[in-house]
Amino acid sequence: MSEAQWSAVDDYLADLFVGVDPALDAALAASDAAGLPHIAVSPTHGKLLQILARSVMTNDGPGVRKILEIGTLGGYSTICLARALPASGRLISLEASPKHAEVARANIARAGLAGKVEVRLGKALDTLPTLAGEAPFDLVFIDADKEGYCDYLAWSLKLTRPGSLIVADNVVRKGVVVDPASPDSMVQGVRRFNQMLAAEPRVAATAIQTVGCKGYDGFAVAVVVR
Ligand code: SAH
Ligand code: DHB
Ligand code: MG
Repeated sequence: MSEAQWSAVDDYLADLFVGVDPALDAALAASDAAGLPHIAVSPTHGKLLQILARSVMTNDGPGVRKILEIGTLGGYSTICLARALPASGRLISLEASPKHAEVARANIARAGLAGKVEVRLGKALDTLPTLAGEAPFDLVFIDADKEGYCDYLAWSLKLTRPGSLIVADNVVRKGVVVDPASPDSMVQGVRRFNQMLAAEPRVAATAIQTVGCKGYDGFAVAVVVR
């Protein structure tokens, strides 16, 4: 088993389940041209985020109305998630980098989603306290700095309701997550996060390892139960 094989299978699955997607392709091309790192979710992972968003139940039936994303980058996952929203739906995405936010806003507009999506600029720990009036969110996607994941989980719990979904990216870090002595602050951040999520009585949670065109990593999913 090799990374090349994981990638080939990911391409095969993306061809089947995602297909040609001009808005997503353009978002990646513009992100690349602006020098953003290649760390957006994969096409199949983006589709999974969209399916999860469409599956969350609300009082108005299936499908999220309000989404919170922490970590926008070029807006790739933002576009995937925002496509699950109804016409009146809203997604707020928090991004610390002015350059990333600018690239993302253009990508989101090109995807026809500017009316539903707001990219809010600033460090998430500064912008999260401004969101109380927009809560509760039906889904939160945590994908910013790994050192902040525990704080983002605490805020996610404040800003959601029973039935909301909390998804967190990059919780396996090429498997290094099992090393308690890892000197990598991102690994230590996700270790603290996984421990906090597992011990949190207000959610039912698990985490899944993934391989594919982004290598070896994983994501956590939690449903708020009370
Ligand atoms: N969700 C995106 C990828 C996000 S990459 C996708 O899958 O398409 C992580 C992003 O988090 C980067 O753009 C980085 O600038 C941003 N970030 C890092 N620290 C942050 C912070 N403290 N607050 C808000 N955003 C932050
Ligand atoms: C990193 C961040 C991400 O959100 C990701 O999906 C992959 C890598 C990182 O900072 O290394
Ligand atoms: Mg990520």
